[in-house]
Amino acid sequence: MDENKGSLSAPAMSLLGEIGKMEQSALTELETISSEQELEQFRTRYLGRKGLLTAVLRRLGELPQEERPVVGQRANALRQKLEEEITHRDEALRREALARSLEREQLDVTLPGIPFRRGTLHPLTLALRQILDIFVGMGFSVFESREVETDEMNFVFLNVPPGHPARDMQATFYVNPEVVLRTQTSPGQIRGMRTYEGRLPVRFIVPGRVYRRDPADVSHHPVFHQIEGIAVDRDISFRNLVWVLEEFARKFFGPDTRIRLRPSYFPFTEPSAEMEVSCTICRGKGCSVCKYSGWLEVAGAGMVHPVVLRNGGYDPDEVTGFAFGMGLERLTMLKLGIDDIRLFYSCDTRFLRQFA
Ligand code: PHE
Repeated sequence: MDENKGSLSAPAMSLLGEIGKMEQSALTELETISSEQELEQFRTRYLGRKGLLTAVLRRLGELPQEERPVVGQRANALRQKLEEEITHRDEALRREALARSLEREQLDVTLPGIPFRRGTLHPLTLALRQILDIFVGMGFSVFESREVETDEMNFVFLNVPPGHPARDMQATFYVNPEVVLRTQTSPGQIRGMRTYEGRLPVRFIVPGRVYRRDPADVSHHPVFHQIEGIAVDRDISFRNLVWVLEEFARKFFGPDTRIRLRPSYFPFTEPSAEMEVSCTICRGKGCSVCKYSGWLEVAGAGMVHPVVLRNGGYDPDEVTGFAFGMGLERLTMLKLGIDDIRLFYSCDTRFLRQFA
């Protein structure tokens, strides 16, 4: 063994070597630590009661008495160094965490508000709601009938037997020879009356979609909407019909609107009439919309045909009734000055949101 001052025994040398390696690996490891939890585990692994450095200190007893302080000091120096490093790392981790949460939770309460983008109700919906209100105000209830109908309901019960020329007026979508997409809301007259089971008075409207095999153009669309109306009682007269139509026209188009009824033909009403209103665009003076007549057709109407009353479960010798059917799109176009029915079905929000 070397007699030089400061020379140490082999076990002491090896223990010092271990401490040196431990220092290196501990410091590298510390670099990779990214959470407080990992840092705590690191502390326990090196400095805990069962930690690596503590284990080294325990082995001091294996060394000769005079060598213990030298190795012990080295070990304590490392403990102190690691404690300092842990403190630094801890502070750094807390700073990073704080910076992250400040970043994440920043909120400038002085910024101006941002409104929701809201849709608007479709002009047809708005018009229909108004029309329903008007008729409900006159004592009508609302009956929803079906869109897929039997040929019988859509035609036969309405006095239009197979082969009747009136069928040609409405190009029909057939699902099969017995089933159609309703071409008019008039079958709702029969279904509605049947739900009243003979009770009086009958007074309801039937709003809804109807289908016709027409190519779309400015005034036609294969799907559109009608509002049917019917009233049945012991003494309903044509003048009751006049009042209802007049009242409706004034409420919907404005108080100075005039109406007129021209003789017409429908198989399910007798007599039948075509209802016209004074032109909503030129107010009767004459323009291209009313074709310089001053009048616009808006509905078909008439006294309910005895055959139809009977098919609805009512005795035409005891009761009379009137009925009418109007086109929702046409009414809405005339009210709002819209000149192409296809706009309603275009899904163009620039058009649609104008009427909110
Ligand atoms: N259903 C007829 C049509 O679509 C309108 C109408 C209804 C006429 C009720 C008279 C009575 O043309």
